[in-house]
Amino acid sequence: MTQLMTRPNKKKKSDKPKKSKKPVYTAKTADKHVLYQISVQSPEAEVDFCLREYRKRFGENPTHFREDFCGTGLISCHWAKHDSHHIAYGVDLHKPTLDWGMKHNIAALKPEQQGRVHLINDNVNNVTKPKMHIIGAFNFSYFLFRERNDLVHYFKQVRKSLHDKGMFVLDAYGGWEAQEPMEEETVHPGFSYIWDQADYNPIDDTAICHIHFKFPDGTKLMKAFTYTWRLWTLGGVKDALVDAGFKTIDTYWEGEDKAGEGNGIYKKARKAENTPGWNAYMIAQP
Ligand SMILES: C[S@@+](CC[C@H](N)C(=O)[O-])C[C@H]1O[C@@H](n2cnc3c(N)ncnc32)[C@H](O)[C@@H]1O
Repeated sequence: MTQLMTRPNKKKKSDKPKKSKKPVYTAKTADKHVLYQISVQSPEAEVDFCLREYRKRFGENPTHFREDFCGTGLISCHWAKHDSHHIAYGVDLHKPTLDWGMKHNIAALKPEQQGRVHLINDNVNNVTKPKMHIIGAFNFSYFLFRERNDLVHYFKQVRKSLHDKGMFVLDAYGGWEAQEPMEEETVHPGFSYIWDQADYNPIDDTAICHIHFKFPDGTKLMKAFTYTWRLWTLGGVKDALVDAGFKTIDTYWEGEDKAGEGNGIYKKARKAENTPGWNAYMIAQP
C-alpha cells in the first residue's frame, strides 16, 4: 500500500505514547467517537498552538475560545481545563455527536470546568455572539463548504464573531498525494485506523474520504465517518479570507523529521517546498 503523506491525523509535537493497558476492541463493542478522538485529534497541541500564537500577537492571555464544527467538543474541554479563566464554546450541527460529547467529555470535567464549556447545537453560520478571542476550525472541517460563496460567507460570520484582538485558526492538508485514491493504516493499541481517500474529482476538487477501523479479532467498522469535501488550496483559502474582510493572514508550515515525515512543529512561512503531502495552519486577523 502506498504511504499517505497527507495525514489528516496530524502528528503533533506533544503527542506522547500512551501508557494505558492495551484495550480490547471489536466492531461490536467499540465506540467510534472514542476511536476517532484517539486516532485523529490532538487537543493539547491545538490549544498550545492557539495560546502561543495569541500571546505572540497580542501580548496578553485570551479567555474566550470557540471551536467550530466541534463534534464531541474535545478541544473545548481542553481549553477549559487549561486555565480557570478559560471559557469555551463549541458549535456543531449534529445533536447526537454533541450529546456524546456531553456524556463522555464534558461530564469527565470538574463541575467548575463544566460550567465554562458551552455546546451549541447550530450551524456555524448562525452563531456570532458572544465575541471571541480565538475561533478554531480544525481537522479541515471548513472543507465541507464546497462553494466559494459559502466559504466566504462562513469566514464573514467568523470575522463578525471576533474581538478586535481576535484571531481565527484553521488547518489544511494538501499536496498531490491528497488527490490520489489510497488507503493509509495507522496501528493503535487495540485497533487500526484507516484513512481511505476513495475518490477525487479534478473538475471541482471534491474529495470523498472515509475513516474505517479494524480490530484484532478481524472485525471492521467500515465507513465509521465519511467526508465529502473540497480540497481547497492555501491560496484559495487565503483569497476567501481576504474577501471576507480579514486583514492579516499567516501560514504555518509543518517541519519534517529525519525520515521526511511531518514533525508536528509549525513555523510561519511565505515559501515552502512542494512536497507530495503537507499539513499547515493559517491564522487570520480581522
Ligand atoms: C470533520 S468533523 C470535525 C470534528 C472535530 N471538530 C475534529 O476536530 O476532529 C466535522 C463536524 O462538523 C459538523 N458540521 C458540518 N457542517 C456544519 C455546519 N455548517 N455547522 C456546524 N457544524 C457542522 C459535523 O456535524 C461534524 O461533527
